[in-house]
Amino acid sequence: MSQRPGAVGVRIAGTGSAVPERRLTNDDLSKMVDTNDEWIVQRTGIRERRICDPSKEGTFTLNRDALKNALAAANMSGADLDLVIVGTCTQEMNCPSVACRVAGEVGAVGAGAFDVVAACSGFVYSMNIADSLIRSGRFRRIGVCGGDAMSSVIDYQERSVSILFGDAAGAAILVADDNPDRGCIYQQLGSDGRDWSGLYLPRRAAEVPEADRDNPIRLGCLRMNGREVFKFAVTRFRQIIEDSFKATSLTADDMSQIICHQSNIRIIDSAIEKLGLPREKVFVNIDKFGNSSAGSVGLCFDQLWRAGKIPQGKPMMMVAFGGGMTWASGVWNI
Ligand code: ACO
Repeated sequence: MSQRPGAVGVRIAGTGSAVPERRLTNDDLSKMVDTNDEWIVQRTGIRERRICDPSKEGTFTLNRDALKNALAAANMSGADLDLVIVGTCTQEMNCPSVACRVAGEVGAVGAGAFDVVAACSGFVYSMNIADSLIRSGRFRRIGVCGGDAMSSVIDYQERSVSILFGDAAGAAILVADDNPDRGCIYQQLGSDGRDWSGLYLPRRAAEVPEADRDNPIRLGCLRMNGREVFKFAVTRFRQIIEDSFKATSLTADDMSQIICHQSNIRIIDSAIEKLGLPREKVFVNIDKFGNSSAGSVGLCFDQLWRAGKIPQGKPMMMVAFGGGMTWASGVWNI
């Protein structure tokens, strides 16, 4: 596309999401590993999660369906898109990207397409990138997805990680707007690669650090140091929300919603308590969907958008953290 001079803003034209039909409850898990509903609910807030049928569903189908739903909500077709971005860390194939296949299926032929690998921060990373690309003047209509089929990388013989994750995707259509004050008014993309082995998905034994060689989780499946990730998440969540308020001079009272990555209800509760956030402004669906990685924030966003809880004219915030370690936040003027 040719570059357009002049300041430009960003409008959200529609949202969508997709989750598999199959439910995996805590009682189902207790028949597979040594765990129970009471422990999982008390330690995580999760009661059930959605799981793909691998014969017909996966990361690609979830993101495709989420984007189709967002396009329908925006009253647009795939051919209207200049670019498709998919935040994911569970690609079926490294080549082609999920974004290329999704773009091909929705009819966005000729559009740019790429995946963003930032684990659970993937949707917020992708939204921030898309906003910046539209503001640059090079793109006008971008389909943003975030979605993971975490069930494809979970070792269901181990209880430490399997209880947390589910499968889902969320999507949004971002379009150029004449009002430059509209769109993402503050964003943060961050990482600390020194701590990568706290949450990682090794495919080869050579990638496994010495200290983790006895981990019983199969190669090709997600490994996590739960306590370390928990500490990191509690601190980082608080910090990025505080940074966002400070940089924008906005408060929680100004926001319609503060969408937090659904990692663990105790991590979300800690942010609510330490920052004094109004509970009704911090949406929670982890009880029904677990942690769907890059799907989590996009799924919340779509559910809130469709419920009319993200009204025009009021700012809202998205925050996430994930493997890498990565984190991201965005404050949006809707
Ligand atoms: N069921 C029953 N008991 C269990 C289970 C289980 N599934 N898992 C562990 N336990 C036991 C442990 O063996 C331990 O028993 P012990 O005291 O007899 O030794 C006890 O429960 C406590 O174990 P901890 O690991 O200390 O439990 P904790 O309170 O830390 O909770 C959890 C574990 C839920 C994983 C927590 O650490 C957590 O949520 N961490 C953050 C994880 C996270 O957010 N990950 C997503 C990152 S986002 C991304 O990018 C993918």
